[in-house]
Amino acid sequence: MIRRFSYGTVFETEAVLDKPEAQRGALPYFDVDPKRRALTCRMDADAVVYGLGENVRGINKRGWIYESRCSDEPHHHEDKRSLYAAHNFILFDGRERRFGLFVDYPGILTFDVGFTDASVLKITAADWNLDVYLIEGADNRDIVWQFRRLIGRSYIPPRWAFGVGQSRWGYQNEADVRAVVRSYRSLRLPLDMVYLDIDYMERYKDFTVDRTRFEDLAALSEELKAENVRLIPIIDAAVKQEDGYPVYEEGKAKGYFCTREDGSLFVGAVWPGRSVFTDMLNPQARAWFGRQYKALLDQGIEGFWNDMNEPAIFYTEDRLAHVLDEISKLKETNQNLDLEAFRRFTGLFGSLSHNPEDYQAFYHTVGGQRVRHDRVHNLYGYGMTRAAGEAFEQLEPRKRILLFSRASYIGMHRYGGIWQGDNKSWWSHILLNLRMLPSLNMCGFLYTGADLGGFGCDATEDLLLRWYALGVFTPLMRNHAAYGTRDQEPYRFSDIDSFRRILGLRYRLLPYLYSEYMKAALRGDMMFRPLAFDHPDDPRCRTVEDQLYLGAELMIAPVYEQNAAGRYVYLPEDMTLIRYTAGPDGDGAFVREALPAGDHYVPVPLGDVVFFLRKGRCLPLAEGGQCVADVDFENLHMLACDDAQPYEYYHDDGVSRDYDNPRNIRWLRA
Ligand code: GLC
Repeated sequence: MIRRFSYGTVFETEAVLDKPEAQRGALPYFDVDPKRRALTCRMDADAVVYGLGENVRGINKRGWIYESRCSDEPHHHEDKRSLYAAHNFILFDGRERRFGLFVDYPGILTFDVGFTDASVLKITAADWNLDVYLIEGADNRDIVWQFRRLIGRSYIPPRWAFGVGQSRWGYQNEADVRAVVRSYRSLRLPLDMVYLDIDYMERYKDFTVDRTRFEDLAALSEELKAENVRLIPIIDAAVKQEDGYPVYEEGKAKGYFCTREDGSLFVGAVWPGRSVFTDMLNPQARAWFGRQYKALLDQGIEGFWNDMNEPAIFYTEDRLAHVLDEISKLKETNQNLDLEAFRRFTGLFGSLSHNPEDYQAFYHTVGGQRVRHDRVHNLYGYGMTRAAGEAFEQLEPRKRILLFSRASYIGMHRYGGIWQGDNKSWWSHILLNLRMLPSLNMCGFLYTGADLGGFGCDATEDLLLRWYALGVFTPLMRNHAAYGTRDQEPYRFSDIDSFRRILGLRYRLLPYLYSEYMKAALRGDMMFRPLAFDHPDDPRCRTVEDQLYLGAELMIAPVYEQNAAGRYVYLPEDMTLIRYTAGPDGDGAFVREALPAGDHYVPVPLGDVVFFLRKGRCLPLAEGGQCVADVDFENLHMLACDDAQPYEYYHDDGVSRDYDNPRNIRWLRA
């Protein structure tokens, strides 16, 4: 049962497709305090609070304060309150009460989940104009299922997007890209995508190609497609302010960019220096921005990643002038900076980027009304990705285009996936990657994954091997790294056999992964679930933060500590341990071991991938291949438990949008 409670004048986010009538009565379970703009609810000691999508900390969000404020935040530390997204959905699983709560509100929203008072959940909005949806159901899965129906079907990528992707901020030209493909292919490391970061553009101008580095992108794209590798360029939110640049000129002439209070163009600096920001909340401006992608579609491009769309603002002209002014004053008065003066000095520099005041300095135009940006801040990345997604439906109606974004709000899940942003080559970020998966799935984001190997900092071989052992299961499987960090393509390291085997496992698992993805998308289900969702009566499961169910068949439990020789795993029921390891011929082999329910120490040598097959289940496996096009999705080998039930297999052409055809579903016997 879903009930909507409405407060103030709500901004239409279009997160929800069919809004139920607003209720007159009081919001159950909560104290509602319009003066303090707060919703408060008591939490019993063992209540678990799930949700909040992309965020720091655990699967259980208790014990911290989170802020929905889409932020360009490259430091995913425990003390952060926001990452790139605003996913305002929680699932409260307490002894006395169980409900889902979605706060449809595009401004800054705080979820204090027992931070100020351990027994209180307090949600505070920057202004009191919100829709609150309360969802009650039989169990956690039912609540999520109802919520997902409310917000609409998740984005479905082309099947080739489930292949392996290689990325790096630093591939400078055609030769660099070819070298990546050559290295992968010559070492028989499977590959489906190479990503183009900002260096392919002409001075960071969206929808342009630097002809001195990429002489003929269309020809390169065709050449690589013949090898089953697709190029996936980045698109940034900000448009370079430059006379004669057609995107800037046209957008300005049509009034499609955000403006300041006095109606003049709002200018902020990002990669290209001074830039303007398309009004992604204005349907005409959005449609116009979406049409720009055609320039790349026409060159054979079939996928994009949308970046910097919180939107990131490195500085504004006014603030820079102010900071320079203040600093020169400091210099005049006190060359010898004491503690306070020095703090002020560094603070001034720190205040340049992503300054909250800058987000209050520009406006959108929605239905003829001007709306100050900070009031609708969390919709920007959603709007940008929607712009692209809606354009693709028109420009390529028969084809799926790969699309994922950095910033997002619930609703955007219908248009694209997300990657988990600028993580680091840290062991703890393997675990963070895992923990975000179910939280994101609840909010409709299914096509997701983290930068494998870590974006910032230097990766090591063991880290990458361990991270891939999780990455083989995530829909988006991409190795990506920041400029200036150590090279981390698998072929940079010595144990190529292990990398080949692990990447190869991905292609053997593809029939299952794709089938599970599609069923989750079409039915509003979660592909990744916390253990407690399947075992509500097992109190141990409520505390498991490093294992997940993947579909109805598998449980995953990756190793995420350096120099570990294995790990402890909790089995809520009897399972079969599956170890993918080097076989006698050097290729990968599946080794099985039946384990009873309970706690087990499982040795996991570096290079092995371990997962668990559930009782009575079976897993369809392909022979594998060097790319998705190689994989035979028809002739499958079933890895089965004794007395396994048939597997419900979803299979389609992977390209068209004929998702609902009943012929796509079939039962495979063990
Ligand atoms: C941002 C993105 C990152 C990208 C970089 C350069 O930091 O999150 O993935 O490599 O910008 O474009």
